[in-house]
Order: sequence, then C-alpha cells, then structure tokens
Amino acid sequence: MEAVISIANIAEHVGQVVTVRGWVYNRTDKGKLQFIQLRDGSGIAQCVAFKRDLDPEQFEIAAKLTQESSVIITGEVRADERAPGIPGGYEIGIKSLSLIQMADEYPITPKEHGTEFLMDHRHLWLRSSRQWAILRIRATIIRAMRDFMDDNGYLLVDTPLITPAAGENTTSLFELDYFGEQAYLAQTGQLYNEANMMAFGKVYCFGPSFRAEKSKTRRHLMEFWMMEPEAAFLTLEEMMEFEEQMIYSIAQRVLAKHRSELAIIERDVSKLEAIQIPFARISYDEAVERLQKKYAETDDPEQKELLKIEWGEDFGSPHETALAEMFDRPGFVYHYPTAVKAFYMQPVEGRPEVCRSVDLLAPEGYGEIIGGSERIYDADLLEERVKTMEIPREAYAWYLELRRFGSVPHAGFGIGIERTVAWICGLAHIRETIPYARMLSRNYP
Ligand code: 4AD
Ligand code: MG
Repeated sequence: MEAVISIANIAEHVGQVVTVRGWVYNRTDKGKLQFIQLRDGSGIAQCVAFKRDLDPEQFEIAAKLTQESSVIITGEVRADERAPGIPGGYEIGIKSLSLIQMADEYPITPKEHGTEFLMDHRHLWLRSSRQWAILRIRATIIRAMRDFMDDNGYLLVDTPLITPAAGENTTSLFELDYFGEQAYLAQTGQLYNEANMMAFGKVYCFGPSFRAEKSKTRRHLMEFWMMEPEAAFLTLEEMMEFEEQMIYSIAQRVLAKHRSELAIIERDVSKLEAIQIPFARISYDEAVERLQKKYAETDDPEQKELLKIEWGEDFGSPHETALAEMFDRPGFVYHYPTAVKAFYMQPVEGRPEVCRSVDLLAPEGYGEIIGGSERIYDADLLEERVKTMEIPREAYAWYLELRRFGSVPHAGFGIGIERTVAWICGLAHIRETIPYARMLSRNYP
C-alpha cells in the first residue's frame, strides 16, 4: 500500500503515488472528469478522477460523492499551478478511491448562512476553511505565549478551577454545589499563582476561566481561556516591557507561520506588521482627558452618550474602543482608580486613589486584551483592604497568610486568549475564536 500522507506536505511527494484520507470539501462535475477537493484536516488537495483511468464502479462513486463524504484516495501527485487547494499548486490524479461513508445532505453550503444558523451547527462549521484557519492561528498564539513564558524562566504551575472564594469580583461568579458547600468556578488563577510564585519565583497558569457576565458584547464569553504569569520582585514598568515583548513575539510567530491562513480570513497583514515595540503608554488620567476631548468633539448624540466619562469611572467597551482607535499599535493604560479595580492592587505611593495597575488595549478598536498589576504585599494594608471591601476573611485566610512568610513585592497579569485571537485575526466577534463559545444566550452545541 502507498504511503499515507498529510496534504500539508503534498509538495514533498510530487511524482509519487500516495494515499490521502479525508472528507470531500467540494466536487465539480465535468462529465468524464470529477474534480474533488479533498480535505484531510491539514490542508485541501484537488483530486481528479478521470473516467478512463478508474475502475468504472469507483468512477461512478466519485461522480456521486456528496459534500463531506469520507473517502480514501490513492493517486499520483502532480505539480499544477492552476490547482486550487491549501497549499494550492498540486493535484492528485486518482488511481483508486474507496468510500467510507456517503454523507447526508450537508447543511452548510457555500452560500451565505446567518450567524445563528452557523453557531447552531458549530460542530460542522468548524470544518469550513475560515474556521479552520482561525483555530490554527489560535493554537499558534497559545504556543507562542507558552514558549515565551518557558523561554523566560517561568514555570507552568496549574491552578484549581473549583474554588471556595471569588478571585476577581463577586458579580460574575458561577456557583457550584460542592457536596453541600458553596463553591465557584474559577474566574482567575491569580491568587493561587501568588502562592506558587513564592515557591517557584516566576510562574504562569494557563486554563479556562469562568465569568457569569450578563453582558452581551462582542468581547465577552462565559468561559474563556487565560494565561496568567506572576513574578516575584517584578515592577509595573518591567511588566509592561515583558508584555510588549510577548505580544510582539506572538505577532511575529503568526506572521511567520500563517500567511496562508491569514489570506483565507482576509486579514490585513500590514496591521500585524505594524505591531512594533515600544507600544504606547498613557496614564488613566490622560486617557480620561483624551476621552473627554473626543466627547466634546463628537456630534452624533448616540456616540456622545457612549463616550461620556468622569474621572474615577471604569472604562466600558466603547471607551476602550475609542482609546484603542487612537493608537496604531497596542497601548498601555496604567494607574487606574483604586476603587474600580480588584482589592489586591498596590496603591501608587503618595496617591492611593490610583493603583499600580495596567491594561493593554489592542488597536483597531479591540480594547483590553491584558489586565494586570502589582499586588499589595504588606500584610496590614491587605487586611485593611479586605475589611473595607467587606470580603469574607475566612475564605482568603491562606492568601493573607502569604504576606506573613517572607512577603515580597510582586506583579502579574492575565491575557485573554480569545480577545487576542479576535484581534490578531481581525474578527468582528469573539465567538469564532473558540471552538465552542459559551455566551449569554448559548451553550449549544
Ligand atoms: O482583567 P481581568 O479580569 O484580570 C484578571 O482576571 C486578573 N486576575 C489577571 C491577573 O492579573 N492574573 O482579565 C484578564 C483578561 C482580560 O484582559 C481579557 O483579555 C480576558 O482576561 N477576559 C475575558 N475574555 C473573554 N470573555 C470575558 N468575559 C473575559 N473577562 C476577562
Ligand atoms: Mg480587566
């Protein structure tokens, strides 16, 4: 039997007889010629059945193949510039074909479908080239992030997904009955990261995070993936440099590896090439001033209403979008008001109303993709914060204890995978960045 190859490697097999196994992406009937676009997960190859060259029974099957039927094809690889495919430029002249299953009428056709219909058929929609390209880029983004951490001496240390207390805020908790006791799905691994950081110096966790966000925006999911590094003695300024290097390395990796996927999704690669260090850096104070200026200059009343902001308020999606549009590359906004951020953030010396926090906003209107801060490391100050914010102390006793056994200044951040993928791929909505999106109105399929 001929060697089974991956279509991705077809170029290495020109002149050879090979076997490919997969699904019919498309078929064009030209009578004595059947052009079968075969998908094997790694790519798409044009396979040509010529009546003269094939056993009549097999040709008859070839001429009836429906979209997404599963087949095994053996044939000779030829270079042919005109042949479409991924990679294009190669064709397989079919010598034999065997059918595994003739697919029922496939619901997703090349014609336009509505988003809800496609999301209802997500288990099938994943096979479309566009979705295939996005999820391959997602895998590379994750790989690039993790390599960046590993190469910089950060150790992967997993954090729990079932937790006895809130990690970030109490408004977006998924509750769980843990054998009669209240528990929650983790919103973040951060608090555990801080304990792990004390053991390993530099750590990161990577996994799903859960937020019962009652918001229906194009950037919120109920279940999303986050990578969170945490390092001892890291300052806010050092962390910004680290973040921009990481983002730069992700963009470079995607550009180097995925030109063809970027072309499939019609991403303007010049936008990715523009991701150059240093990124913009502005304080929250300055960001508010800029937004207020934009507010004053805006005539459209609807837009104006969305842009409204007073010092001390947190940014909503429209604010982030407006700010992100002001940069041609990612931009940091640092020193947010202490009152709108999490309880653990270190106040700015001499100005406790703002804290040592930083968000990274992606350009082109994408908004926040990273949130992070220096953490309070003084035991008394943290106790005080827990008290004033009415946080149940018992649940955080272990976290507070970290400050009594060799506490050190430290910092960390969380990067949302889906928001990063949405931006890198230039997608209008976050739902296509994850195989099965969990949203306010959807947890099927
Ligand atoms: O800003 P967030 O809430 O920060 C934290 O959870 C910190 N504990 C992280 C840390 O310092 N270790 O979330 C971090 C990132 C956001 O910038 C965003 O990219 C993503 O997680 N994110 C979401 N992505 C999709 N859907 C949601 N509902 C998200 N909420 C946060
Ligand atoms: Mg945030």
